[in-house]
Amino acid sequence: MQEDSIDVKNILGLQLPSDPRWVDLAPLSLEDILTDHAYCEQKAATTCISLIQRYSQYEKLVTELAPIVTEEWGHFRAVLNELQKRGLKLGKQRKDIYVNELLLFQKKGGHVDDRFLDELLTMALIEARSCERFKRLSEGLNDEYLRKFYRMFMESEAGHYTLFITLCEHYLPKKKVRDRWKEWLEFEKDLMNRMEIRGDRIH
Ligand SMILES: [Fe+2]
Ligand SMILES: [Fe+2]
Repeated sequence: MQEDSIDVKNILGLQLPSDPRWVDLAPLSLEDILTDHAYCEQKAATTCISLIQRYSQYEKLVTELAPIVTEEWGHFRAVLNELQKRGLKLGKQRKDIYVNELLLFQKKGGHVDDRFLDELLTMALIEARSCERFKRLSEGLNDEYLRKFYRMFMESEAGHYTLFITLCEHYLPKKKVRDRWKEWLEFEKDLMNRMEIRGDRIH
């Protein structure tokens, strides 16, 4: 049912619709799609573990992210299972230009609150774009089973996106969160444009 799929652009506040290359799945093999996806899930799990380790004093964050670690690892296992079921291999992890550039935009010095906010907003953004990408896959793949498979991921990552924003707003003033989120969205819009001009592949 594509009509009732969530309008990712409006809900997530992303400044650009998905790059058309995310819709054009033709040049990608299923092995590539699933391999990239598997590493995204791994990174989501390890980043949540790292946030718990570094911000253990934030009880709500620890409580809320602990089950997300399990969920993301479950996603990784589900993707791995899809690869193995099809006789495909988990390939090598590729350089993730998109995520690397987002990390460069994070504030490295300054007040701990600012670094904390940026780390959580980075995750929110990655979850939002993953959600959008899964929406494209859930609509663009030929295989009915895989369309449903990706719809499940889409819904899950949308929930994670909102969780990260909610956590920011729990610990920091809403206005601060909103103002910085706008800067992140602007940066991300430019990043997507730069990647498009350079012809970088987006995972
Ligand atoms: Fe996930
Ligand atoms: Fe997620």
